[in-house]
Amino acid sequence: MKIIRIAVANQKGGVGKTTTSVCVAQELKSRGFKVLLVDTDAQCNSTRFYEARTEKEATVLDIFCGDEPALSCVQHTEKGDIIASDKLLSGAETMVKVDERRFTHLKRSLKSVEGEYDYIIVDTPPSIGVALKNVLAAVDYVIIPVEESGWSLDGLMDFATALDLARDNNENLRVAGILTVKSKERTRKSKRMGELSIQVAEKLGTKCFRTKIRESVACTEALTEYYVPLREYAPTSTTTEDYKNFVDELMEELI
Ligand SMILES: Nc1ncnc2c1ncn2[C@@H]1O[C@H](COP(=O)(O)OP(=O)(O)O)[C@@H](O)[C@H]1O
Ligand SMILES: [Mg+2]
Repeated sequence: MKIIRIAVANQKGGVGKTTTSVCVAQELKSRGFKVLLVDTDAQCNSTRFYEARTEKEATVLDIFCGDEPALSCVQHTEKGDIIASDKLLSGAETMVKVDERRFTHLKRSLKSVEGEYDYIIVDTPPSIGVALKNVLAAVDYVIIPVEESGWSLDGLMDFATALDLARDNNENLRVAGILTVKSKERTRKSKRMGELSIQVAEKLGTKCFRTKIRESVACTEALTEYYVPLREYAPTSTTTEDYKNFVDELMEELI
């Protein structure tokens, strides 16, 4: 099987990128796939969730600034394999050399893990900068999580421009779809946002995933308080069930 590289991206913060990256990575891992999570956000949320080290270990910063092969940056943790981020990545704009390779460091580095994994899931920062541009040059698919609020869809057209530019370095880049997260089903707002998301998806040349990820207290507790994978913390929660269904839907899409 060929390695499949998927980024979870949206230039807004707090829209469920890290939650989706981690839950999808955990779900794929539970199905027996070999999964690598790559954290490219200076906030290091997925790095912290995996309890990975950012010191005395090679991180994405070494990929962006030192052309370190991804294989030598992998940390094998109890929760799975991860390439950690580093808070110093917030200075990436000035730290990453301005040359013809500026946006392709990650793409080249990930060649070293081909054959080692089935899936690479990339968690991304909430801004269109050098880190996100490296990610968009390196992956096959993008999942765009959105909340059920107009604010969450705002700015997605800027993101569309970034995707178009990324295709100069990566012609195979595809938006797998828009994923509604923290959904409050059956409310009027949820319905209205659903319709709006479909319009935005059409403009982006993609679709909205059928599965919506419902909001639950267990989700926040598991990931941000107890650092336990949601599917272990709350095996029967609505959010757990939704991420399972989402992975089913995603895998159909990717085949
Ligand atoms: N399905 C959900 N139910 C409840 N809370 C959620 C859900 N998805 C995400 N959250 C919460 O929303 C906040 C932002 O999510 P996060 O994944 O960190 O977003 P991002 O990575 O885009 O900044 C976190 O506190 C997270 O726990
Ligand atoms: Mg995040």
